[in-house]
Amino acid sequence: MTPLPCSLLPLLVALVALLLTTTLTHAVDQTKFRTCTQTGFCRRHRNKAPANAYTAALLSSNPNEPYKFLLHPGKGYTQTHPNLSLTVDPLSNGAVRVRVQENNPATARWESSDILLPDGLVRCSSATHSETPQTVTISSSCSSPDGEDPADVVVSLSPFKITVKQGSEVLMSINEAQLFHFEHKRSKLGVPEPTAPTQSDPAADQHNGKKIVGYWEDGLARYEDGTTEVKPVDDVATMVKEDEDGFWEEKFQSHHDAKPNGPMSIGVDITFPQKSTKLYGIPEHASSLALHATRTPPSPHSSSKAPKYKDPYRLYNLDVFEYDLDVPMSLYGSIPLLISHSVDTGRVAGAFFNNPSEMFIDIWEGEGMGSHWMAETGVMEIFLLVGGSKVSEVYKQYSSLTGTQALPPLFSLGYHQCRWNYKDEKDVYAVHKKFEEHDYPYDVLWLDIEHTDGKRYFTWDKRFFPNPVKMQQTLWEQGRRMVTIVDPHIKRDNNYYVHKEATAKSLYIKNADGHSDFNGWCWPGDSSYLDFTEEKVRKWWAEQFKLDKYVGSTPHLHIWNDMNEMSVFNGPEVTMQKTTKNLDGVEHREWHNIYGMLFQRATSEGLVLRSGGKERSFVLSRSFYAGSQRWGAIWTGDNAARWDHLAAAGPMLLTINTAGLSFIGADVGGFFGNADSQLMVRWMQSGAYQPFFRGHAHHDSARREPWLFGDEALQMLRQAAMERYALLPFWYTVFHTSSITGMPVMRPLWMEYPKDANCPALDHQWLIGSDLLVCPVVQKDAVKVNCYFPGNQDWYDVRTMQVQQTPTSKWANLDAPLDTIPVFQRSGSIIPKKMRLRRSTEMMKNDPYTLVVAGDSAAGELYIDDGHSFDFENGEFAKRRFDFADGKLTNTKLGGNWGANGTCKDWIERIIFMGVSKRPSKVVTSGGQELEFTYDKNTLVVRKPELGVVDDWTLQIIS
Ligand code: NOJ
Repeated sequence: MTPLPCSLLPLLVALVALLLTTTLTHAVDQTKFRTCTQTGFCRRHRNKAPANAYTAALLSSNPNEPYKFLLHPGKGYTQTHPNLSLTVDPLSNGAVRVRVQENNPATARWESSDILLPDGLVRCSSATHSETPQTVTISSSCSSPDGEDPADVVVSLSPFKITVKQGSEVLMSINEAQLFHFEHKRSKLGVPEPTAPTQSDPAADQHNGKKIVGYWEDGLARYEDGTTEVKPVDDVATMVKEDEDGFWEEKFQSHHDAKPNGPMSIGVDITFPQKSTKLYGIPEHASSLALHATRTPPSPHSSSKAPKYKDPYRLYNLDVFEYDLDVPMSLYGSIPLLISHSVDTGRVAGAFFNNPSEMFIDIWEGEGMGSHWMAETGVMEIFLLVGGSKVSEVYKQYSSLTGTQALPPLFSLGYHQCRWNYKDEKDVYAVHKKFEEHDYPYDVLWLDIEHTDGKRYFTWDKRFFPNPVKMQQTLWEQGRRMVTIVDPHIKRDNNYYVHKEATAKSLYIKNADGHSDFNGWCWPGDSSYLDFTEEKVRKWWAEQFKLDKYVGSTPHLHIWNDMNEMSVFNGPEVTMQKTTKNLDGVEHREWHNIYGMLFQRATSEGLVLRSGGKERSFVLSRSFYAGSQRWGAIWTGDNAARWDHLAAAGPMLLTINTAGLSFIGADVGGFFGNADSQLMVRWMQSGAYQPFFRGHAHHDSARREPWLFGDEALQMLRQAAMERYALLPFWYTVFHTSSITGMPVMRPLWMEYPKDANCPALDHQWLIGSDLLVCPVVQKDAVKVNCYFPGNQDWYDVRTMQVQQTPTSKWANLDAPLDTIPVFQRSGSIIPKKMRLRRSTEMMKNDPYTLVVAGDSAAGELYIDDGHSFDFENGEFAKRRFDFADGKLTNTKLGGNWGANGTCKDWIERIIFMGVSKRPSKVVTSGGQELEFTYDKNTLVVRKPELGVVDDWTLQIIS
């Protein structure tokens, strides 16, 4: 190669710099990612004309099994279509499980046993059914929470559809729009899979009590007694033409997807009744809380709005570099949970379409809301979350299936300081020291990939981190922990012990041949990826975190799992070829969307194992699926230091919370680019009121530790962090509630005010639990913010302690100078706080509490435990309830053993009553002790009551 003349070098450098800035300032290269039109199965489903193609017949109603139906293709399909099996199973949690798969067990599809919890699948024991020639109606008392009228499941036989009804009101339907389409397993030569029921499937040969002995050409059953099944009403005679578009191979850019198993996609519509106001959920997308229409309704009769997006929402976990906002493109995680809410009835229902393969979901608005689900492969498994008139019903049902939010260790709710990268130990000590000097609370300092020896995880670059144990111990002396990054790609280096062992034990994902290890490109260069779908690999991985294995780690080191979508730089759409296989020989195509969750799970199990099963883990993951809430925290990946990204964080986090995953945050300050002091202050304020609170930045971004923005900004940033720390007892209590009920921690307003027509689309303000209303400023130079105050009660400004006077319209344009984030406490609530400024949660451990009582009739809870172990599972906690009415405040026990043996010395140093109309004459305890107080501007502050948190007591305000 001819060397470049020196004179050209500066030009080349300038060109590269220009290219780099262009990439840094421009958005994602959308052409790198497939759209529906570029994806065979999505095209096929989207273009399918509605046709009454399948009819259902009841095969078995054995009380010990799900109701079983045979679905057989009607005129719309060719003869090669086999019968399908449909099961409908009312569950004891009130949800209804609906499954469709090939009827022949010999052709059973792959499904994961790592998603659903057995308790959630317990069948309802009280189900009964009744039949008419057209319908089978299944009733059970399990779907009637709190004595509500039970919901019935009506299976219409021809055409097949399923409707959930409460009285005459339709709550939701499957296949109302007749978009059901099931691509059966087939061989390439066109030989149909066997369609006749087999010996091993005895239930399949029963139909309305008659034994089926065969099928006619038109798909109708022939019975043993010589009769034939009555022809179902089938008024659509159109033939659905399968043109084999993308059946056996597909190409995308330079990538070829050989599809040895052919088409196996599934799809159906799930609709919600006319009363449904909005649909929410199906993260992760950089979009609004309320989902937008992506198509017009299938029914030509319904009136509709023009769709905002032309592509369906996509669920395929991907590493999207510099993602765009306001698009339905996939991001790092997927939760196929859709929530529907009606302002009219206040009812909330949902559908969880449990399938970890690639999915597209169309949404329409018309007379009612509808969704069309299209998945590349797998079993069609839908949980209809019937819900109830209380929002909590839906979350009870969903979390019994996938788990509630794990109770995080308390420290992880504090502030986290991260950067790609803190360069060396000196850098770590310097940053730590500055936080100390500025009295700035933080809990964790993070190390990104550069701390390792050549991106070999579990190692340290000894040039820069020669004494990692000492470093962690030094930080721990002041109550600070560290986090290191550990990604799922393993450097293919024969001298690297992790690679050597993984190769020897054959733990890596395989190429399409099922034998050779897949080799892809990631941070370390040539890399292989561990197969976390395999339990033995997860167990082996968990062992790697033991202190003697992970040399240089200490019990105060926690873990960050990144790139787990999985990210493969040279793969199609920056991920792995779909034809690669797990250790059981199952194609990656089948399990793509759960890989990230299973990686986080294995890591989390590793940290628990490291402590001998005693300590809760903290693991942050970028990728997620339904159920990730059980394994740790998630963040929204590579956002940018831009105002629009700050504004987008609220709706994104709300959507993910709506999908049952509460411990979520966005990089404070924005990952790419540079944040100026104003953006940084506004982001720190917003982040302080979001569940996971971490500042992070790209290595090309200017350093942005809080003191680098000048004194004035530093004070504002610190103020925001202090507000977070003061509220930790409240956050912890709300997380505890979420861990029991599955209710989101960060809630959209509609969840607490489901009948308020102003709330459904609001996503730039939110609630923490039910009692704190947050109205952040997310616009450059704005010093006012429009905030909506829901409910028929007052809201107290947490700073001034005064009632926020809201006009009857309930909208207020609030003053929000740069040092202020408007936050309000609901009148009627009692919020626990800790008001002494400390530098970390560890330092706050023994601090006394402050109770803030809003209004003259109020209630609230406080949950406390040791903050780190699993002892709470054995009753080692205290849960208290505070009630305030008629001037009397009482503290009563709700649960837990703490307090019984004097183990808990926590006490209350201050009680603030907001909204007290006149100065009292005295305040006395139940023991007759008179307490000191001050009174000013309707605010009564009782000082040093020195009451025990876990003691039962009463305090009386005497006028
Ligand atoms: C991508 C992650 O999203 C980002 O947060 C991290 O800093 C880099 N990977 C390097 O590890």
